[in-house]
Amino acid sequence: MKIIFVKDYEQMSAEAGELIAAQMKIKPNCVLGLATGSTPEGTYEYLANLYGSNKIDFSKVTSFNLDDYYGLAPEHEQSYRYFMNKHLFSKVNIPIENTHVPSGIAEDIDAACAEYDRAMEASGGVDLQLLGIGINGHIGFNEPDDKFTANTHLVRLDESTIKANARFFDDPKDVPKQAVSMGIKNILQARKILLLASGQNKAEAIYQTVLGPITPSLPASALQLHSDVVLIVDEAAGQKLWDAKKQGKVHEYVRTF
Ligand code: GLP
Repeated sequence: MKIIFVKDYEQMSAEAGELIAAQMKIKPNCVLGLATGSTPEGTYEYLANLYGSNKIDFSKVTSFNLDDYYGLAPEHEQSYRYFMNKHLFSKVNIPIENTHVPSGIAEDIDAACAEYDRAMEASGGVDLQLLGIGINGHIGFNEPDDKFTANTHLVRLDESTIKANARFFDDPKDVPKQAVSMGIKNILQARKILLLASGQNKAEAIYQTVLGPITPSLPASALQLHSDVVLIVDEAAGQKLWDAKKQGKVHEYVRTF
């Protein structure tokens, strides 16, 4: 894992934006795996600005999002399709038919999940997967469990996730209890993975992701099995890892600012 320690959210977003822009320049018809949450918002703003100044072109890009809430229609303000349209797709020239977000309202969810996996495979696979992380170490909506789930599937959300995401809803009772998410195998099949973390409440999860055991009780630890992961952490999220680095416990390639 290549670890880049940055000062703050703004630097994290700029670094991530530049990395995604580089991927798009190397392969204009690349397939991007995209994430939601407050963590990648700044990255999307950075990319929209690069597009606005004619530095990148999304016209041949395809995207697959990690997840969406079960039961929320795409028009719902808290659905992840709505989030993506608002923060990225409406601001750049990606053809909307090239964008994919798992459906939370399909009549047959299992069939829709299998179809999502097939579409990802048919696209040639994800070149670069962007990830945030939950405070409990979840990636996508793969919650702590006693096994890793491979493919796109219906998930029951953890109480801690429901609580953490309640801040986006008018009434905490409105937070869906289930979601549809890519599985760990889907995520690990991406050619490159970019994991972002900002804020003190992510410090423990990030430490365990990099230096803890590989275990489904901390789903992000599965990233240790992938050979091309870049982690960008700000000072607060990287604090515990930074302390470990000072004690010589971090051996991966590390760049600091
Ligand atoms: C959500 C998403 C994840 C995201 C995580 C962290 O539950 N499913 O993909 O990484 O929460 O969110 P945030 O970036 O807002 O802290």
